[in-house]
Amino acid sequence: MDFKKNPRTDFKDIAKLSKEQTRQEIDALREGIEYHDYLYYVKDQPAISDETYDKLFRRLQDLEQAFPEFASADSPTQRVAGAPAARLEKVRHTASMLSLNSVYSEKEVEDFVRMVSREARSERLEYTAEPKFDGLSVEVVYEKGTFARGTTRGDGETGEDISHNIKVLRAVPLRLRNGKQDIPPFLAVRGEIFMRKNEFQKLNKARIEKGEEPFANPRNAAAGTVRQLDPGKVAATALDIVFYDILEIRGRSFASDWEMLQQFPKWGLCTDPHNRKCSSLEQIKQYHAAMSRERDKLDYEIDGVVIKLDNYALRAKVGMRQRSPRWALAWKFEPKRDITTLKDIVVQVGRTGVLTPVALLEPVNVGGVTVSRATLHNAGEVRRKDIRIGDTVRVERAGDVIPEVIARIDQPGQRRGKPFSMPRHCPVCGTQVQEEGAYHYCPNSLSCRGQLVARIVHYASRDALDIAGLGHKTVQELVHREMVRSIADLYRLSVEDLEQVEGFAEKSARQLYEAIQRARKVRLDRFLYALGIHRVGQHAVQAVVRRFESVDALEKASLPDLEAVPELGSVTAQSLYDFFHQDQTRRALHQLYEVGVEVEPMAARRRPGPLEGKRFVFTGELEQYTRQEAQQLVAQRGGLTASTVSDQVDYVVVGRDPGRKLEEARTKNIRTVNEKTFQKLIGAPMRARAPVGSRR
Ligand code: IVH
Repeated sequence: MDFKKNPRTDFKDIAKLSKEQTRQEIDALREGIEYHDYLYYVKDQPAISDETYDKLFRRLQDLEQAFPEFASADSPTQRVAGAPAARLEKVRHTASMLSLNSVYSEKEVEDFVRMVSREARSERLEYTAEPKFDGLSVEVVYEKGTFARGTTRGDGETGEDISHNIKVLRAVPLRLRNGKQDIPPFLAVRGEIFMRKNEFQKLNKARIEKGEEPFANPRNAAAGTVRQLDPGKVAATALDIVFYDILEIRGRSFASDWEMLQQFPKWGLCTDPHNRKCSSLEQIKQYHAAMSRERDKLDYEIDGVVIKLDNYALRAKVGMRQRSPRWALAWKFEPKRDITTLKDIVVQVGRTGVLTPVALLEPVNVGGVTVSRATLHNAGEVRRKDIRIGDTVRVERAGDVIPEVIARIDQPGQRRGKPFSMPRHCPVCGTQVQEEGAYHYCPNSLSCRGQLVARIVHYASRDALDIAGLGHKTVQELVHREMVRSIADLYRLSVEDLEQVEGFAEKSARQLYEAIQRARKVRLDRFLYALGIHRVGQHAVQAVVRRFESVDALEKASLPDLEAVPELGSVTAQSLYDFFHQDQTRRALHQLYEVGVEVEPMAARRRPGPLEGKRFVFTGELEQYTRQEAQQLVAQRGGLTASTVSDQVDYVVVGRDPGRKLEEARTKNIRTVNEKTFQKLIGAPMRARAPVGSRR
């Protein structure tokens, strides 16, 4: 019985097993599950599906339940949440958990390298370079290869016992793997617990919906989660861990950091794939630059890089400060948070009427981008953070998301403004505002100009009608000068009309006019998206157009017809149904047809052939297309797209820097193709991609 190489799940009836057979199967299952955890977390190369994994896991649980005498504290089943702890016990660390000296400039790094060379009496030194994870530092102890405890860093000398929570993380092995190297009798390692960005967003969304305070950043979320008393709640949110140091080891030693980092994965301890060795100041600088470019693409937060002298004997020569080693430093990235003054709070009306408070800020450079507006989400959030006009606030920008005011900074002695309250009337049309849950909205969807502006901006946006030159400011002016009272009016504008708009001259007015004229013929999927139907985003649109080939067909569809569309939830189906059964929609569509808008049915564009019914998955970045464009090309040719690799997938298209899906495809023997082959499959001509940022 070997569940590593041959994870069979056609188990024998438990009642028919002898005691000895049970013991053997339990051992094999434990080993198999540990091995697949290792492949998944450490090697990042899973060999079995989640479903098979779950089956193995459940079988082990069943066997252990039937034969309690075989229970063992280091069985993978023991990760399952135990009873909540009454409080977190204080534990003294095996060795001090030091901190690092932080620097921000090249000059300081040059000084560091010079100082280390001088102290180590050598010019040619090697350094390990690692990401600086923005998480929570922990100590994890293994005794005779078995997980013994996990503690938070605390003050560096004493931390809190969070063993009950750490054990729940599948990335923490309960037993060290036994490679060719013997397991040390005692090992205390240091690592960082963190929460992935997408998990963080999910968690915060759920918290806001439940009326709980959202966490300010993934680090706080990870810390809050790991210090929970109830491990049941920890399992529910995915925390991850990465290891980078040894606090104490008995029975063996390493000569350098790099040697240690190579050993970690062999024991089953994850290290970061971006760790590198640098042998000059130049390489250190290159590493810092490369990681700061990589930063936003990672699905976890890093706030700099850590540079450590590699050789342990030389480290001893360079020595220590009070709380931090002299042989290492943290070279932080430009902060993506900064402090500024809140000049005003305005209320913005969205295309569905939702009112959003927006902070107008004294412009501030946040990680290379000037920020002068930031969202405040909703009235409840403003109240909770107690943000008022004139306050000093902290602004943060994460990845490509909209900047956000995360907190108020208390300035003792400062006179403060009045608390913010949501206007009782729509700031644009004056209609009385209504409340729904955490949100306020303007119910005047028919004639509120604020909603109209937002709807037109969406209609013209890149994934909709793609009318270059029709941004928010222009639309606002067109609407407020009453040159445009509906989307259809756009098509009635002349070059002369457009010349009157601020910032437009003859040439730019003609260009916009032509762009609008071109936007008369539109494909069904883009048109549906452009209409901005509540809950109907790109994904839903693609699902709908696979079933319905024209607006006409959609108008005639019954609710059960719509509910039968695969991948379309019933709430979205209802929303679509309601949309097409409103008089207002019929009038608006009629107006658009009157001015000559032509919606091309999908069928006319579909070329049946090799892609009919074929399912594609994408991984990595394509040169010629955005992910969305590639998915649309597949859909137009009758193909399907999926976001995960399963046996139903026909092709995995592999771009630059592919992810885990590539390995999954290989394991499952699914055909992988590069971009060139993909283009041949879809029969598309090569085209040059517009440089990023060249539009609007
Ligand atoms: S090494 C003696 N490596 O940064 C060196 N620390 O102030 C011990 N951190 O509290 C730390 N990523 O939690 C090291 N790759 C990395 C790290 C890292 C993040 C954290 C650590 C520490 C803080 C430094």
